[in-house]
Amino acid sequence: MTAAAPSISTTHVPIALGERSYHIHIGCGLLGDAKSWAGLPASADALIVTNTTVAPLYAERLAAQLATRHRRVLQIALPDGEQYKTAATLELIYHQLLGAGCDRKTVLYALGGGVVGDMAGFAAACYMRGVPFVQVPTTLLAQVDSSVGGKTAINHPLGKNMIGAFYQPARVICDLDVLDTLPARELSAGLAEVIKYGPIADVQFLDWIELNLDALMSRDKAALAHAVRRSCEIKAHVVGQDEREGGLRAILNFGHTFGHAIETGLGYGAWLHGEAVGCGMVLAAELSARLGLVEAALVPRLKKLCQRAGLPVQAPPLSVLPLARWMDLMRVDKKAEGGEIRFVVIDGLGRAAVRPAPDALVGEVIAAHAAAA
Ligand code: NAD
Ligand code: GLY
Repeated sequence: MTAAAPSISTTHVPIALGERSYHIHIGCGLLGDAKSWAGLPASADALIVTNTTVAPLYAERLAAQLATRHRRVLQIALPDGEQYKTAATLELIYHQLLGAGCDRKTVLYALGGGVVGDMAGFAAACYMRGVPFVQVPTTLLAQVDSSVGGKTAINHPLGKNMIGAFYQPARVICDLDVLDTLPARELSAGLAEVIKYGPIADVQFLDWIELNLDALMSRDKAALAHAVRRSCEIKAHVVGQDEREGGLRAILNFGHTFGHAIETGLGYGAWLHGEAVGCGMVLAAELSARLGLVEAALVPRLKKLCQRAGLPVQAPPLSVLPLARWMDLMRVDKKAEGGEIRFVVIDGLGRAAVRPAPDALVGEVIAAHAAAA
């Protein structure tokens, strides 16, 4: 049984947030299509926030479109990498805006992956107490997750994404063509966030991913269009009910409590965010099974899927990331309450919940999946 991939005509997924509502445009050739930008604020100034890798690939194409709508189109190419998702890099954006005399109507365009999107979004939230911004995600991970829903942040040496704001973009433009230049390892990292949506919200989508993983890995546009659209629909549904993560939205962090500990523990950039999430989902599935919430068969199922997607499924050796360090790192997680770590668990396949778990059990789960030294 192979599910028929839908056509790749442009689709618009709505995010319903009252006066902060917007659309996610998904399709091919969107960067160079005037329709993508129609209706957005057309103020005097636009600032494209990108990085040194993405700028030479796509900044001119975007700038050419924006030049028809803005008097000045400025650009800033940030250093590339998770290790630069810092307050110091944010300062570069403010410096450019203030140095160029940009007013409070200036529109920021985040052209890049999740690192650029999170930083440009946070800069937009803060500059003159808030200017409009548009997400133009260029990684699969950013198209299916980080550009949608208004979480913006920078890292702190003591914790990932700890300084930030909820600030919604005016639009999200997912041009599937830009994924052609994405390195294979980054495509795999994005697939981790696609896979995530299956166990937490949509068993049929999990089945579909298993059947169509090869097409996704070979960047088949119809398969990518379906994966991006279904992921965005699920995320839009969750964010529409719980924009500021009062409760439900936390389920989007399946695998992330373990994953963030890996990222922070090994040093930002050693494992890609999506890689850490992939491995983290295997651990979170194991925890769910040991808590008796889901059948144990989910663990090998997810492990196999992540492996096929090119993701690491073994946690770092305990000699590299000792258990005590894992626990310390996970206690800094934003879901932790009063020092108690809380995990997103699968509570019956296709449904997620947030639960505490005994430290000893969590330690057993990590030890069971840690690579030998
Ligand atoms: P990234 O932004 O570092 O991009 C990955 C790499 O791909 C970079 O080297 C980048 O320069 C390069 N790149 C981007 N687009 C390219 C293209 N089209 N062709 C060639 N190279 C390209 O990483 P990411 O995986 O996109 O994002 C990870 C970040 O997103 C993390 O900081 C994570 O915390 C954040 N995130 C945020 C949310 C949210 O809701 N805000 C959700 C998930 C992840
Ligand atoms: N990536 C998790 C969220 O947006 O809530």
